[in-house]
Amino acid sequence: MSQLPLEPIEKASVDELRALQLKRLRATLQHAYANSPVYRAKFDAAGVHPDDCRSLDDLAKFPFTTKADLRDNYPFGMFAVPRAQCARIHASSGTTGKPTVVGYTQRDIDTWATVVARSIRASGARAGDLVHVSYGYGLFTGGLGAHYGAEKLGLTVVPFGGGQTERQVQLIQDFRPDIIMVTPSYMLAIADEFQRLGLDPRESSLRIGIFGAEPWTNDMRQAIEQRMGIDAVDIYGLSEVMGPGVANECVETKDGPTIWEDHFYPEIIDPETGAVLPDGELGELVFTSLTKEALPIIRYRTRDLTRLLPGTARTMRRMEKITGRSDDMMIVRGVNVFPTQIEELILKQPALTAHYQCVLTREGPMDCLTVRVETRPGLDPKAAEAVAAARALQHDVKTFVGTSIDVQLQAEGGVERSQGKAKRVLDQRPR
Ligand code: DLL
Repeated sequence: MSQLPLEPIEKASVDELRALQLKRLRATLQHAYANSPVYRAKFDAAGVHPDDCRSLDDLAKFPFTTKADLRDNYPFGMFAVPRAQCARIHASSGTTGKPTVVGYTQRDIDTWATVVARSIRASGARAGDLVHVSYGYGLFTGGLGAHYGAEKLGLTVVPFGGGQTERQVQLIQDFRPDIIMVTPSYMLAIADEFQRLGLDPRESSLRIGIFGAEPWTNDMRQAIEQRMGIDAVDIYGLSEVMGPGVANECVETKDGPTIWEDHFYPEIIDPETGAVLPDGELGELVFTSLTKEALPIIRYRTRDLTRLLPGTARTMRRMEKITGRSDDMMIVRGVNVFPTQIEELILKQPALTAHYQCVLTREGPMDCLTVRVETRPGLDPKAAEAVAAARALQHDVKTFVGTSIDVQLQAEGGVERSQGKAKRVLDQRPR
């Protein structure tokens, strides 16, 4: 089947791209200042005006936006258009308190569909492909975001959503999709279900998996690719900035998501000082929307840690695969630990699987980290091979991460399965 053509901007030179970004950035700052009282107050308090932005570097003069700004102005207070001009509302639940609410004009929905279509194409989609969407539909941006993008690309969509794992397998068998869009953790649960039903997931019709909404490692990529017999590519996004499709990996390189920079301007900052860091340095990812109408977002602090890398398959810059969110960072006896670091080491042990959770407890003054992990299906957690793998994991974490852990082995199904975003950290320390 035929290749799908790139948009002209995906082939533009860096100079053309920067010129477009500056033009769009200035328009976005003007729009936010003129139409959102919250942004106007923030800019005034910081002593900056949209006219002060003459180069892309001038963006650093403008104040950051955080999740707290959105919460404080719940539900629609940061919108820069009247609510009646919004075609759609989404919200992300968050663990405590009020959800974060975002809005889209019809044009925003169209922009979003364009970047998701671009993402699916970069993942290797071909004309005529069938896409099975297992991201949740509803207030979460995953399902509808993926859906509109796949339709815009001209593909056929099966809007399954999350859950009902046995039926997911059934319909994948019957409808024969080429592409699946799902969280990587739920992909593993679906793969398990194939095997439980006596089916080999490598024999399925799937050719490509587009995985995101949670951190996952390159080791996890390999594990999924081998198990499913597919190409596994990374899709990144967040509701405050748009939803899925802010960045997506190109299947020919699989070297970190390409940021769709004509719509989302990235910066990396030092999370402590807020200073902008040069490309290549590790820090917190910050985004400014360049074309959004309903909810322009200026220097939004994502709390995601990564670095900006030069373009490879496209001129636009890439981000390194996310190592973790600052919210997920565990501090165990003074050592910073991310679940992804544990995941990498778990996957080096053939006796263990990527169904895992990090449980934090406190014994006296000491924080303890227990890694709860499932053994390979059919392998008894008490078997010598499993016990040796647990010991090896303990040793590797001590050597490569620098902290002592306990390992609690579980038989198949012993670790809570996600049907969307996996919950990797269980904090059971007293408040
Ligand atoms: O998770 C949007 C999305 C849906 C992205 C489907 C990809 C696929 P939120 O619920 O607002 O939006 O959560 C955003 O999820 O700040 C990251 O911490 C994390 N995240 C999203 N994609 C990735 C990824 C959606 N590819 C938050 N790798 C972000 C690592 C990711 N983390």
